[in-house]
Order: sequence, then structure tokens, then C-alpha cells
Amino acid sequence: KQGVRGRSLQVRADAGASGPKSGQSTFKVAVLGAAGGIGQPLSLLIKMSPLISELRLYDIANVKGVAADLSHCNTPAQVSAYTGASELAAALKDVDLVIIPAGVPRKPGMTRDDLFNINAGIVRTLIEGVADHCPNALINIISNPVNSTVPIAAEVLKAKGVYDPKKLFGVTTLDVVRANTFVAQKKGLRLIDVNVPVIGGHAGVTILPLLSKTKPTVEFTPEEVEELTVRIQNAGTEVVEAKAGAGSATLSMAYAAARFAESCMRGLDGDSDVYECAYVQSEVTDLPFFATTVKLGKKGVEEIVAEDLEGLTEYEKKAVDALKSELKGSIEKGVTFAKKQA
Ligand code: NAI
Repeated sequence: KQGVRGRSLQVRADAGASGPKSGQSTFKVAVLGAAGGIGQPLSLLIKMSPLISELRLYDIANVKGVAADLSHCNTPAQVSAYTGASELAAALKDVDLVIIPAGVPRKPGMTRDDLFNINAGIVRTLIEGVADHCPNALINIISNPVNSTVPIAAEVLKAKGVYDPKKLFGVTTLDVVRANTFVAQKKGLRLIDVNVPVIGGHAGVTILPLLSKTKPTVEFTPEEVEELTVRIQNAGTEVVEAKAGAGSATLSMAYAAARFAESCMRGLDGDSDVYECAYVQSEVTDLPFFATTVKLGKKGVEEIVAEDLEGLTEYEKKAVDALKSELKGSIEKGVTFAKKQA
């Protein structure tokens, strides 16, 4: 169960050796919203991946220049640009992985749910395109509110008859990246060694770091647990406030999304040891979607690691109970939106 986690963005030294064919296959990847604050650095980071043969950049504006710029990097992925709805089909045709950071980000004082009215419609339209042009692709949804946009995507795919719950992911990697960073700083650990699973969802109290399951094992006082939990839950707001109206996390998000995309591709490529936390359809609780550690494989989610919810501390158990009503509301809001539009 304890596979090596978070090794992404490292080219495997043994690529090409015998055993699993990791590093041998290449994939077509589309980034939707590629000209944005996240889209640009994310596209740069994944352009460095040896697992990508084609990188298709789609946006409603300003994407030609981004593609021209990136195409000069001497890494193997071929970069192409697609602008506006009329080019969405060509951007998506037969891709293996679709990454969606399209939509508006938060400004100070806003919750992720305040973005619903704009981003819900954007995600719905883009997922209709995915259903029509690359129904077998893995889908990484970054657009907030993730707690609702993932259920919207599921409903759209169901209505089109192509829903495979193993292939739809809400990207919560940034919560893990933040948890790892803050815990390592607090405890004086080597960053590279630290892994903190983060479960639940991706907004406020629905973000629940399982500090008791930190690897390597480390003791926290109740005060440290409270302080770290609250900081991890509010870390996005820390960035929104520091940017003072200029948007939300883009660079750390691009890093996290690139790590998650790389893990998805390593799973597709047959690497047998790829684990990440993600917000997926799940039966670990009575809610239809929940983030836990998942094992990634050739068809997407290979296994949901239900052990994440076992052996929790009293603090964590209470937090799971407390987050469920907000998460349930966000899921229902997404489902209602998608059904009303169908
Ligand atoms: P941004 O405004 O800088 O970029 C968004 C891009 O989406 C723009 O280039 C825009 O032209 C494009 N876009 C808008 N409508 C589109 C459509 N219909 N089709 C294709 N592209 C479209 O925003 P930023 O900072 O890149 O954030 C993007 C999203 O990611 C936001 O919803 C934000 O809340 C979310 N986010 C999610 C995080 C997570 O952990 N999952 C963390 C940080 C942000």
C-alpha cells in the first residue's frame, strides 16, 4: 500500500530498463484555459515531461503566443494552439489527458463557491466537448469550486453516455503540496520525505489534512494540529490576500497540477506504484464524491485507498463529520445545475 508518492516531475533514472514500460509511452495532452495564470506555467512544466508527445493549448483568447513561445523549448512535446469554441473539437480529438484550469479565480473576500455562477457553465461546455471528442481521456479538473465542478462534469458525461468514474478527477494536489511544505517547516523535516494525505474536498473546512498519518511518523501537540489544519485550509486565501485582487494561487497550483498530470500519465504508462490524493467518485463515505489517496493505473483510478479513513484521531473523526454537510451541499448544487441545463 505504501507506494512511493509524489515522485512526479522526476525523470525516472531506470526508464527503458526491463520491467514496467514506464517512460516508454507518450501521450497527447490538452490544457483548457492554457493562457491563464495557472495555464501558462502549467503548460511550461508539462512541456518538460518526456511522457508527452503532443501538447494542445486551448483558450478563448491569447493562446497563440503562449504556444509559439513554448514551442521553442527543445523538449519532445509538439505544441499547438486552439482559440475559441470553433477549435475546441480539434484541440480535444483523441487526447489521453485533459487538464482544465479554465475559469475565473477568487479575489479577496470571495469563497470558491462565489465562482460557481461563472465557472459551472464553463466546465459544463468544456466537458461536453470532452464527451464528444475524447470520451476515453482522463480528466483533471482544476476550475473552482472543485467540490461542485466535478459533480457537474460527471452529470454531463452521464447525459452523454460516456461517464467512467475512474477517469474523472478533481485536482486537490495543491492541498497536499501545502500540507507537506507547512509540516516540514514546522517540524524541521526534509521536505522531500514528507507526505500528508489530505481528504474530503477542496474548499475551507472540507480540506482535511490527516496529520496523524504524516510520513515519516511525527508527533503533533493538539495546538500544532489546530494551527496546521487551519493554515492548510486557508492557504489559498493567504495567497488571494497577498495578491490583493490580482488572482489566486497560480504558480504553486501549476506545480501541483503538473505533478498530478505526470502521476496520471505514469499510471497510464503501467507504472505499478503511483498514488495521489484526488477528489473522485467514491464509496468511502455516504457522499458520492470524496477526496482520498487513490492508486492510479492504466485506466485511471485503480483503487481508492479506504484505509485513509481508518484509525483517525478524535479530532480528525469530528472534522470528517463536520465537513460532510458542506461537501454534500456543494455536490448537490453541482448536480442540480447540470440536470437543470440538460
Ligand atoms: P485566470 O483568469 O488567470 O485564467 C483562466 C483562463 O481561463 C483565462 O486564460 C481565460 O481566458 C480562460 N477561460 C475562461 N473561459 C474559458 C472557456 N470557456 N474556455 C476556455 N478557457 C476559458 O485564472 P487562474 O488563476 O488560472 O485560475 C483558474 C481556475 O483555477 C479558477 O477557477 C481558480 O479558482 C482555480 N484554482 C484551482 C485550484 C485548485 O487547487 N484546484 C487552485 C487555484 C486556482
